Amino acid sequence: MRGENFTIRDRFTPDAQAVVYAGSCLELLRQIPDKAIQLVVTSPPYNIGKEYEKRLDLDCYVQQQTEVIAECTRVLTDGGSICWQVGNYVEAGAIVPLDTLLYPIFRKLGLVMRNRIVWHFEHGLHCTRRFSGRYETINWYTRKTKDYVFDLDPVRVPQKYPGKKHFKGPKAGQYSCHPLGKNPGDVWDIPNVKNNHVEKTDHPCQFPVELVERLVLSMSRPGDWVLDPFLGVGTTIVAAIRHGRRGVGAEIVAEYVDLARTRIIEAAAGTLRVRPMGKPKYDPENASSRLRDPPWPHTISSPQQTDLFCLPESEASCEK
Ligand SMILES: C[S@@+](CC[C@H](N)C(=O)[O-])C[C@H]1O[C@@H](n2cnc3c(N)ncnc32)[C@H](O)[C@@H]1O
Repeated sequence: MRGENFTIRDRFTPDAQAVVYAGSCLELLRQIPDKAIQLVVTSPPYNIGKEYEKRLDLDCYVQQQTEVIAECTRVLTDGGSICWQVGNYVEAGAIVPLDTLLYPIFRKLGLVMRNRIVWHFEHGLHCTRRFSGRYETINWYTRKTKDYVFDLDPVRVPQKYPGKKHFKGPKAGQYSCHPLGKNPGDVWDIPNVKNNHVEKTDHPCQFPVELVERLVLSMSRPGDWVLDPFLGVGTTIVAAIRHGRRGVGAEIVAEYVDLARTRIIEAAAGTLRVRPMGKPKYDPENASSRLRDPPWPHTISSPQQTDLFCLPESEASCEK
C-alpha cells in the first residue's frame, strides 16, 4: 500500500519504511534477520475467547507464547528492548496474571526485567464477584547488558513543584528539579481506548498511541526498527512512524490488517487523529457535566458507614 511519499511493504526487507504482514507472526519473524529489531512492543492475545482468538489449554498457550518470545529475542539487537503488555487470563472466576506465567520464559532466554510498568485506566467490565480490573502490566526486558538504549529526556513529565529548591548542602538555594521534567515512574495513568476515545476503531482492545509513544521515544532511536508480532490495527507502527522510526508487524484478521494499513498511511501523512502525549485526563468534575448529578436521593449504601453516621459525634470518632 502506498501513500504520497510512503510505502507499506507486505514482507520484511531491511530498507522498507513499514511492513504489515497479513498472516501469522511466526511466518513474519522467519523473514527477519538476527539482531535487526531495536524494540518489540506487543499485546498478545490473552486466551480469554475474544473474537480474534481460540481459547486454548493454558499449557498450549504458554507453549505458543514461548515460540514467539524466542523468535523476538533472536531478532533483537544487543541493546534492544522487549515490552510485553498483558492482563489476566480468567477461568471460572479465577484470575491468572499472565505476566507471572510468562516471566520464566524471558528469564530462560537470558533476558532481564527492567520494569514491570503498571498501566492504570478507568474503563472496563464491571465485576460483581471481585473488584473490577483497572490495570494491566507492561513487562520490559533487555539482554543482560548495561548498554541497552534508554533515553529519559523525551518522556519526562512535569513536576508537581518545579520551583522547589535545595534547602541545605552545597546546592542550598538552587532549584532542585530537572528542567526537562521528572521521570514518569512505573505507574502510568493513560486512558484506554473505549468508545469516546478519538482513536477508537472496530478492534476490541487496541493500544492508545501515547502508551506506545513513551516506549518508542525512550527505547529506540530515529531510523530503528520497532516490531509488533500481534499488530491488531497497527498502533505500534503508527507510534513508530510518528517519531521517525520504522515499523513492522503481523496480523491474522484481514479487517484489522486493512485498518492498520490505513492508519499507518494517515500517520505518515500527519492526518491520523490521536490523543496527544501528555494531554491531561478528562476530569468530569471540572467539565461541569450534568451526568455527575445522581438521579437518586443521596444515600450511603454500606451498612457500616450508615451506622457510623448515626452515632453521636463523640462515639463516631473513637477507636474501638
Ligand atoms: C490484543 S490484540 C493487539 C491489538 C494491538 N495492540 C492494537 O493496538 O491494535 C492481539 C492481536 O493479535 C492478533 N493475532 C492473534 N494471533 C496471531 C498470530 N499468530 N499472528 C499475528 N497476529 C495474531 C489478533 O487478531 C489481535 O488483533
